[in-house]
Amino acid sequence: MLERVAVIGLGNMGLPIARNLLRAGFPLTVHNRTKAKAEPLVAEGAAWAESPAAAGARARIVVTMVSDDSALDGVVSGEHGLLGALERDAIHVAMSTVEPATARRLADAHHRHGARYVAAPVFGRPETAEQAKLWVIAAGAGDAVETCLPLLKALSRGISRVGEDPSRANLVKLAGNFLLLAMLEALGEVFAFVEKAGMNRLEVLETLNGALFASPVYQANGERMCRGAFSPAGFQLALGLKDARLVLRAADQLGVPMPLAGLAHDHLLTGVARGQGHLDWTAVAEVLRDAAGLGSR
Ligand SMILES: NC(=O)c1ccc[n+]([C@@H]2O[C@H](COP(=O)([O-])OP(=O)(O)OC[C@H]3O[C@@H](n4cnc5c(N)ncnc54)[C@H](OP(=O)(O)O)[C@@H]3O)[C@@H](O)[C@H]2O)c1
Repeated sequence: MLERVAVIGLGNMGLPIARNLLRAGFPLTVHNRTKAKAEPLVAEGAAWAESPAAAGARARIVVTMVSDDSALDGVVSGEHGLLGALERDAIHVAMSTVEPATARRLADAHHRHGARYVAAPVFGRPETAEQAKLWVIAAGAGDAVETCLPLLKALSRGISRVGEDPSRANLVKLAGNFLLLAMLEALGEVFAFVEKAGMNRLEVLETLNGALFASPVYQANGERMCRGAFSPAGFQLALGLKDARLVLRAADQLGVPMPLAGLAHDHLLTGVARGQGHLDWTAVAEVLRDAAGLGSR
């Protein structure tokens, strides 16, 4: 029999994740700070819970997919928070991209309450989530991760298990997002370079990606930049800035210089300062176009 599941946080990622769990047959309860976003799922058969605590009380596995560390802390320990309501041995699967230190702290707090914490951040955009093709990085106690596997398989094309310490999953996720930030920075610089020389950016992308990388990730993000397809955002520039901050903070704690992360941070910060935080993170290319005297959209 499938476990009772709750999903808290129905944004760009949480909504398709919850929908796939519902379609896979999990008895599902949902909660979101803004209730209206839950309505389509309730129409499809999910139960609505008025608070994270009410959602937590109804489930054996609670998935959270909220924006950042402070939103996750609020959902867990704020007023009507999840933690106090969890049944003994219930599992909280935290999918947000947060600081490794946050995962460690929350895992301890869950342990003190007799509940279990699994970190399961994901790679993939909202459309990947819709297709149930995310890549999950999972870490937590072996039996807890095992119990979650049917749920994780229902929303992913791959699962990497990276150990028992939940913070490791968040570290791997940050490492991946750092590579993506470095890619966006490099693509943005190349597009300014070739555009200023009067060349067609899309043609150059196809040539270089075909010759060097053969990467669907380069292709999709490069095309978004060339077409100026920044709205609606799949992943908001402001959330990219959050991730650059998390990488820099974790690198600082580990004593590892990551100068590229600093560069990406500054360009994302410029994008937010220009009022573009709500756009897709590929809009960082506009900061680089502007710096090259090409103006910006
Ligand atoms: N989008 C992507 O491509 C992608 C890919 C991989 C990982 N991620 C990560 O997944 C997480 C969610 O991203 P997203 O794109 O789904 O973000 P999003 O569309 O902005 O959704 C954010 C969700 O968090 C909720 N939330 C924000 N602040 C809150 C608070 N203080 N208390 C309670 N709920 C709060 C929002 O509720 P409201 O509806 O009320 O605002 C919404 O449900 C982030 O950690 C992100 O880094 C995103």
